Amino acid sequence: MALSDLLDVPNSLSARDRGSLIHPMTDLVRHEKEGPLVIDRGEGVFVYDDDGTRYIEGVSGLWSITLGFGQDRLAEAAFRQMKRLSSYHMFRFKSHLPGIELAERLLEIAPVPFSKVFFANSGSEAADTAMKLVWYYHNAIGRPEKKKIIGRIGGYHGVTIASGSLTGLARNHADFDLPIARILHTDCPHYWRFAGPEETEEDFATRLAANLEQLIIREGPETIAAFFAEPVMGSGGVIVPPKTYFEKIQAVLRRYDVLFVVDEVICGFGRLGAMFGSELFNIKPDMLTCAKGLSSGYLPISAVLISEPIWQACLVESGKVGVFGHGFTYSGHPVCAAVALETLKIYDEIDIVGRVKAVAPRLHAGLQAFATHPLVGEVRGMGLVAGLEIVRNKAKKESFDPKANIGLFVERRCQDHGVILRALGDTLTVAPPLIVDDSEINEIVRVVGIALDETLDHVRREKLI
Ligand SMILES: Cc1ncc(COP(=O)(O)O)c(C=O)c1O
Repeated sequence: MALSDLLDVPNSLSARDRGSLIHPMTDLVRHEKEGPLVIDRGEGVFVYDDDGTRYIEGVSGLWSITLGFGQDRLAEAAFRQMKRLSSYHMFRFKSHLPGIELAERLLEIAPVPFSKVFFANSGSEAADTAMKLVWYYHNAIGRPEKKKIIGRIGGYHGVTIASGSLTGLARNHADFDLPIARILHTDCPHYWRFAGPEETEEDFATRLAANLEQLIIREGPETIAAFFAEPVMGSGGVIVPPKTYFEKIQAVLRRYDVLFVVDEVICGFGRLGAMFGSELFNIKPDMLTCAKGLSSGYLPISAVLISEPIWQACLVESGKVGVFGHGFTYSGHPVCAAVALETLKIYDEIDIVGRVKAVAPRLHAGLQAFATHPLVGEVRGMGLVAGLEIVRNKAKKESFDPKANIGLFVERRCQDHGVILRALGDTLTVAPPLIVDDSEINEIVRVVGIALDETLDHVRREKLI
């Protein structure tokens, strides 16, 4: 039994946790009753709880620990930088080497030519920054009415007031009084769930692009500033876009002079089998946000890459006011930047993209075998990210009542068998560290199979199907 199971023991970690913490993205009522799984340490793709039980971290923490746990080189890079310049800022004409080098390196590896890099601390802050730059840009070029921003239903860009508004998930809006004004949402590009019976992927993409165009026309093209999208939706349930989707969407955006901001927070740095998801879908963004894999999740750092016209707009606006009035204390923190630089070096040395391409087929072949399982509606994904959508009725694509909490049930079954995965709604998500090997993939797949069978027993026993 893990220490954290001893809920009633005063001073147990579980009791102390429940006495002191609010957990992000957690059912707080359930947590009061059940307490946390306390993770004590990590090594490679494994983490260990406070009882010493080992788990494969099958979602890289929050899709972020790309190089696995306990990489000496990243720890040493942090230590070296801490000793040299432990902290500094970039306000008011100050700079430092790790920040400069990281910006240069990001511009080198970016999927399209960008002009400048702005650093922040999280994916949410990067999205907020990009949204503010969209508004700044349109003010600079004399179009102050062009300010509405379009996200997608199912899209995820963070949880701050602006990025959370752009996120298209009800659970992130409900009772937080979001979204704010000037934020719109267009269709979710989930072919299996939303296409008509006769519709091909291409037809579906055409319809979604037409819907986007109608939305723009309805709102007035002169009011629509930008469109934000993840190449593959992550938190919305691992949604790979249908064939031709982004080319059709981009044609619409160009027609109405709408900026494209690509959110590479999950897809960037190899996850999909390319350095950036934009490369795979021929996305030509005006801005790009990234985070997570930028530092292998070891330290908080995110970046916004901007095109030359947007940089020129920054110059114009800052010239007007006398300052570029945006920035965070820790924008480009030298220790975070040093760890990110070392992360990018390691990606290069171990050919992270080649590694993902080499191992990903095993993951997908393994999971595809569950496509015939009575509870699995769809198996989807690409690179080292996959989702299995659990359904009550396969033929009708009917989901379980959310109150049945099937996603959490299957997630817990996996955990009990030594693999930490994450259910997003009823989609079980797999996104292991990019250094995962064949035997670890086999183990993930084996445990998913057991968990699905145990979930089937459960739903039959509880008469949920
Ligand atoms: C695509 C995407 N964008 C933005 C974010 C927000 O990042 P953060 O949690 O660092 O604010 C996330 C987080 O999961 C994400 O998946």
